[in-house]
Amino acid sequence: MLCVRSFCVVAGLNVAFLAGAPSRVADSVPENVLVVHCDQGKDLISRNIYGHFAEHLGDCIYGGVWVGEDSPIPNTRGIRKDVVEALRRLHVPVLRWPGGCYADEYHWREGIGARDQRPATVNTHWGMVVESNHFGTHEFLDFCQQIGAEAYISGNLGSGTVQELSQWVEYVNYSGESALAELRRKNGRREPWGVTYWGVGNESWGCGGNMTAEYYADQYRRYATYLRDYPGMRITRIACGASDADYRWTEVLMREAGRSMQGLSLHHYTWARGKTADDFDEAGWFSIMKNARLMDELITKHSEIMDKYDPRGRVGLVVDEWGTWYDVDAGTNPSFLRQQNTLRDALVAGLTLNIFNNHCDRVKMANLAQLVNVLQSVILTQGEKMVVTPTYHVMEMYRPHQDATRLPAELVCRDYRLAQDRLPALSASASRDASGAITLSLCNLDPKRSGLLQCDLRGASPARVSGRILTARAMNAHNTFDKPHALEPATFNGAKLTGATLQVTLPPKSVVVLRLE
Ligand code: AHR
Repeated sequence: MLCVRSFCVVAGLNVAFLAGAPSRVADSVPENVLVVHCDQGKDLISRNIYGHFAEHLGDCIYGGVWVGEDSPIPNTRGIRKDVVEALRRLHVPVLRWPGGCYADEYHWREGIGARDQRPATVNTHWGMVVESNHFGTHEFLDFCQQIGAEAYISGNLGSGTVQELSQWVEYVNYSGESALAELRRKNGRREPWGVTYWGVGNESWGCGGNMTAEYYADQYRRYATYLRDYPGMRITRIACGASDADYRWTEVLMREAGRSMQGLSLHHYTWARGKTADDFDEAGWFSIMKNARLMDELITKHSEIMDKYDPRGRVGLVVDEWGTWYDVDAGTNPSFLRQQNTLRDALVAGLTLNIFNNHCDRVKMANLAQLVNVLQSVILTQGEKMVVTPTYHVMEMYRPHQDATRLPAELVCRDYRLAQDRLPALSASASRDASGAITLSLCNLDPKRSGLLQCDLRGASPARVSGRILTARAMNAHNTFDKPHALEPATFNGAKLTGATLQVTLPPKSVVVLRLE
C-alpha cells in the first residue's frame, strides 16, 4: 500500500488531488520517499548502541573466546587471536558479561587468583556443564582491552549478596589501599580498571529470581546504594528492566527506583520456534521481520513511561539483549543455543540498528546476543576454525553511525505483503559524523521486489555518494567454514546523486549503507 496522505505531506503535493483519483502526476511519483533533515540533527547515536554480550553459555566463552595459554590455537594470554582481530575491525564499543541468566549464579571470587586453584563449579542454567572458572574478572577485562571495548559487568542479585557485589566494584575500581585492592594487585593488576557499567541482576522477573516488580525495585535500591563511586569516576548502575511488552515492570521500576538508576534494561528476542536458522520459507522470513519490527513499538512505549518519570532523559534505556532465537543447529547441545546466521539475520540486524539509531534520544546502549557461537552471533568457531557471519558484516557496515549525530528523517514507503499480512518494506536511518559526512543505512525487507527510493537531502549538497551492499540470491545464504566468503558486502552502484536528490534502487532482501560527502 502506498501511504498517500503521508506521501503528499512529504512531497509537498496536493493531498486531495493525489488521494482522489490516480493521475499522471500520481503515476510518476516515486513509490518510496525518504526526507532527511541534514541541517537539523541534535542527538548523538551513542556508540554503545553497537555493543555486544558474551555469556558463560555453550561455546561462547570457552572455545569461542578463551582457549587457554597452552592451546595450539594462536592466543594472547589464553584469548583467541583470530577472534580478537575480527572484533577489533568491528570497533566493539562495550561488552556485557558474564550473563544473562548465568550472571545471577556467578560468584566473582571463584574466578580470580591462580587458575589451577580456582574451584570447578556447575553451570546449572546452561546444560549443567562444569565451569572451570578459568575465564574470570582479569581475563574478561584483558579481553575487553584486547578488542578495545569498555566493560559492562552484570552483577549477581539473584543468588548473591549486597556485600559480594559491592566488593566486586571495589576490587575492580578502587585505586587506594584496601585489602581488596591489595588482592587485585597480588593477582597481577596494579591499577584499577575503572569499569563504568554495572548491571544489578538479570531478568529478575524470571531466571534472575522470579521476583515481582515491587520486590525487585526494593532490592535494586538496596544494592544500588552500596555500588560506590570510587574516587575519580562515576559508575552507571543499570537496573533490570522489562521483557518485551511488560510495561507494568517499567512503570513500577521508574516510579519506585528511577532516581537511583542511570540505566534501565529491556530484552526482546525475535523467535522462530520449531525451525533452525537456515530452514525457512517466505512465511518464516516474513514473520521474523515482523517480530523484529516490534522493537520500534516496544522502545516507543517503554520510553513514554520513562518520559513520565524522567522527562529530561537522564536514565538510558539499555536494550542489553536482542537478536534472533531459533532451534539449535542439528546435532548440537540444546542447552548451548548454537545457531547458523543467514541473510535473514543480517536484515534483522540492519532493521533493529536503524530502530535504535532513530530512538537514540532514549536508547543509550544495546547488546546483541551473543558474541560468539550463541544465538545471533557475529562469529562462529569450531576448534581452530573461525568464520564471520552476515550479522557481523552489518555491524561493520553500520560502524560510521557510532557517535555520529542522528539526522531526523521521514520515510514513506510501500508495504511488503504476504498473504493477508503486511509491513513497511523499507527501513532507514541517517547520521552525520564529525567530518560532516552523511551515512544512510537502508534495508529492503521484501525478498522479491526491489525498491526505488527517492531521498530528499534537505540542507545538504553532497558532491559524491559511495556505498556497499549485503545481499544474496537465497534468503538463507550464509557463510560456512568451507565457504567463509559466501556472503560479504560488495560495492554498491545503485545510487545516483543529482543535487540534493538521491535515487537509490534497493535490490530485494538487501542492506545498503551509503556515504555522502
Ligand atoms: O541470551 C540467552 C539468555 O536469554 C540469557 O541468559 C537470558 O538473560 C535470556 O533469557
